[in-house]
Order: sequence, then C-alpha cells, then structure tokens
Amino acid sequence: MNIDVIISADHIKEEYLENKTVVVIDMLRATSVIITALANGAKEVIPMLTVEESFKKKMELSKLGIPSLLGGERRAVKIEGFDFTNSPLEYTKEKIDQKVIILSTTNGTRAINLSLKAKKILIGAMINANAVVELLKNQEEDIVFINSGTNGEFSMDDFICSGYMINLLCQSHEHNLSDIAKTARYIYANNSDVVQYIKNARHYNVLKALNLEEDLKYCCKKSIVDIVPIVNKSSKTISIISK
Ligand code: MLT
Repeated sequence: MNIDVIISADHIKEEYLENKTVVVIDMLRATSVIITALANGAKEVIPMLTVEESFKKKMELSKLGIPSLLGGERRAVKIEGFDFTNSPLEYTKEKIDQKVIILSTTNGTRAINLSLKAKKILIGAMINANAVVELLKNQEEDIVFINSGTNGEFSMDDFICSGYMINLLCQSHEHNLSDIAKTARYIYANNSDVVQYIKNARHYNVLKALNLEEDLKYCCKKSIVDIVPIVNKSSKTISIISK
C-alpha cells in the first residue's frame, strides 16, 4: 500500500484523492468532537463550511421534522446561536443521544468538505487511532492522511497523529511510505509522549490560553474510542462505519 500525508487543508489537491482512502485528522479538536459525538450516540454529524449554511441546514431539517443541534467554533470559541462549542467533552450521551449534529469549524470541517473526491473518507484522531488502523489493514486502496492543519498551515498536532497511525500500520506490514509519511512516522517514534511534543504547537497554546486544558488532555489520549466515522458522500453526513 502507498501511504502519504497532506499537511493542511490548503494543500489538498482534490484530483490526487481519487481512488484513495483518506483519513481526515483535526485532533485539536474537530475530529475528536465528531468521534466523541458518534461514540456517545449521535445519529449523524453533518460537516458544514460556514455558519450561514449551518443555520440553513438546521431550518431544512426542521421542515422535514428532523430536530438537530448546532456545534462548532470560530477562533476556538462558541458561535453565537449555536448549542455547543467545539469541546468534545460537551458532547455527552445525555445531551446528544440519537441527535443530528450540524458542525462547523475553521479547519476540520473544511478539510472534510475538500476531501469528497476520495473513494473513502474516514475520520481520525489520537482517540480512535487504533480503530482506524485496524480498518485500514483490511482494505486495498492507497491511503492519504489529511491533516486539517491550522488556517492553511502545517500543524504539529495533526502531523504527529498521522505519525502515530502510520507507525501502528507499519508494525504488522511493510508499506510504501512517501518521504513526508516517513517523517511523520519518525516524529512519532521519537516523541511517543505526544503532549511533550505538541505543547509547543501554536493551536495547543491557543486552547491552553482559553483554559481548555481538559480538552487538550482528552484529545491527546491514545486509542480510547473504538469507533471509526465515515463520510457518506451522497448525503455528506458522517456516521459510524459498520464493522
Ligand atoms: C478547527 O476545526 O479549526 C478546530 O477544531 C479548532 C478548535 O480547536 O476548536
């Protein structure tokens, strides 16, 4: 299998994704939110680009008799009129069981929307890395780890998360890694204490300054959730992949 890494949403070339399986990563925090919401019983998550589209989607669903909740952030804080911030810890079973979540974030939901040309789009983060890797082992397509990055730029957190998954994948089989995939693996292999590594990352410090330490601790936990979300390309909704 060929394995590659794209370092930010701005670096996605949509044609490059054709016939590939992609894993979209925004470990701080959009993909950690999606995984947590679905693991806690949300029916589906709908990734939206803009705030306006999110409100419109809520109206559309409401006309069809489908209640939904709005979640996400701009500049890492709650969007006016939304039900949830972008903190995974808010998406508890009591609040979201069987609910549809409309999510709009700065980088994560953008990267997902730019990945729709891929054959399969999985959602990954530190918290479900092992489940993602187990699934990837049983498929044939080449794999691209899409790092959402921060405002179009490289981010240390998504990169080491890719490295963690690549390292797990390479433990059982030889794969053909691009230079950037090799570098991600190398970074993880030499920094398995992920918090120590990403504590210098820009977005880590943005969240820390907002007193979101509990989110940071949670998002850095390795493989604590055993589900893999997948994007249904025709409906543009995300749900748990059936095993
Ligand atoms: C994003 O999608 O840009 C992030 O998840 C930002 C955040 O940490 O809230």
